[in-house]
Amino acid sequence: MDDHSETPSLREVMRVYPTGVTVVAGLDAGGSPFGLTVNSFTSVSLDPPLVLVCVGRRSTWHDRLTSAASFTINVLSADQEAIAIRFAREPSEGRFDEVEWRPAQSGDPILRGSLAWLECSTTEVLSGGDHSILVGRVERCAVNDRAALLFHRGGMSSVEE
Ligand SMILES: Cc1cc2nc3c(=O)[nH]c(=O)nc-3n(C[C@H](O)[C@H](O)[C@H](O)COP(=O)(O)O)c2cc1C
Repeated sequence: MDDHSETPSLREVMRVYPTGVTVVAGLDAGGSPFGLTVNSFTSVSLDPPLVLVCVGRRSTWHDRLTSAASFTINVLSADQEAIAIRFAREPSEGRFDEVEWRPAQSGDPILRGSLAWLECSTTEVLSGGDHSILVGRVERCAVNDRAALLFHRGGMSSVEE
């Protein structure tokens, strides 16, 4: 016998798996920045450098992101919990208002104060049930030594170096 309690729900299992928190971002048809909070970020390959994120089909930005040639992934730092919440809540538009950002070489947004950023060109969009799996080639990336924002059991906390 072990001490696990069986659950019918994948969601209940995934919420105990700690992750970092990112904002995946791009430019809408009018050239305005958009983004959403994403924790389904992982590395795929080092050579070539590939990463993936999963984007819900019901996201306002699903079609735009899956048809875009590029996107950015902003890895949030411990003091960006408010950004994580803002980019996960309605309204979907205007999330970058009053948020400091600058354009990557692709034009996609890089958030000020993040722990790391990756500028990606889209190489594949795969079907993954109610999400699409966006595979990106990392064209440029950068890190600093801030503490990371951690998501675990539905709450956010921080991880120091
Ligand atoms: C910590 C956290 C992680 C999330 N991870 C994802 C994810 O990996 N993929 C996704 O599609 N949505 C994810 N979401 C939900 C989206 O952020 C949210 O549904 C989205 O912002 C809704 O707005 P939209 O319609 O503008 O996309 C996450 C939310 C939170 C709070």
